[in-house]
Amino acid sequence: MEYSNIIVETRGRVGLITLNRPKAMNALNDQLIDEVGDALDAFEKDEGIGAIVITGSEKAFAAGADIGAMANYSHMDAYKGDYITRNWERLKSCRKPIIAAVAGFALGGGCELAMMCDMIFAADTAKFGQPEVKLGILPGAGGTQRLPRAIGKAKAMDMCLTARMMDAAEAERAGLVARIVPADRLVDEAIEAAAVIAGFSLPIIIMIKESVNRAFESPLSEGLLFERRTFHSAFGLEDQKEGMAAFVEKRKPVFKHR
Ligand code: HXC
Repeated sequence: MEYSNIIVETRGRVGLITLNRPKAMNALNDQLIDEVGDALDAFEKDEGIGAIVITGSEKAFAAGADIGAMANYSHMDAYKGDYITRNWERLKSCRKPIIAAVAGFALGGGCELAMMCDMIFAADTAKFGQPEVKLGILPGAGGTQRLPRAIGKAKAMDMCLTARMMDAAEAERAGLVARIVPADRLVDEAIEAAAVIAGFSLPIIIMIKESVNRAFESPLSEGLLFERRTFHSAFGLEDQKEGMAAFVEKRKPVFKHR
């Protein structure tokens, strides 16, 4: 497939998507998000891929939705076109794990895009923010919802109401970021972690992702029941037999369903 706003590569069993609008700090327009959705769909169908990394440039993961493209929208343009949510939802439906590797700015929709991924690795240069308030708008792709779930109400309110940015260290302390990595190692470390994931049993990886996400969608008792039933179903997989046999036989497991 031809892409003009992203670069799509594979590294072994890892799919790598690099946001590539360098002149606009990777500002997210409709076409770019459509391309990310197409690339994710292709990786989802590709049996050779077990996990995905989305990254940007050294300067910016993404500095937000494209302000120029939005500036003259009327309410009806935004509402009828289901602006933002229409094509962003495709990220949520990807069953394979996605790591966001963030260097530089992840602002507005950029921060929201990172939060839609399953975990965030941040370069020590990363800066996260929800500065929409400065533009006379509010976050529109999860900033007011995923951010408080990730870092709590106090810091989410601070970021959304004052537009202040968080550096990588604060973001990790607050729970937004899984790992901080030196900038020149960021993409390699994300690919290495994705390769580890891609070496495990894919159905189990999907079950883990679904179960963790369930924690944010349901009361504890329902989440625990979902986990328990899913756990039981794992015993129907050949990969469970292989994983446990390999442990008993003191060898490395070779998972079949990758
Ligand atoms: C369009 C953008 C952009 C954006 C940067 N650029 N951010 N273009 N949309 N979101 C462009 C600039 O216009 C400029 O183009 C070029 O990228 C370099 O940016 P500079 O401002 O010159 O760089 P710098 O001084 O280093 O400042 C970097 C920055 C700043 C702090 C990231 O650009 C900035 O504050 N950007 C806007 C951040 C923002 O408000 N994001 C939220 C957007 S609203 P030229 O042609 O002049 O060189 C949003 C809503 C989400 O995301 C709703 C749901 C998705």
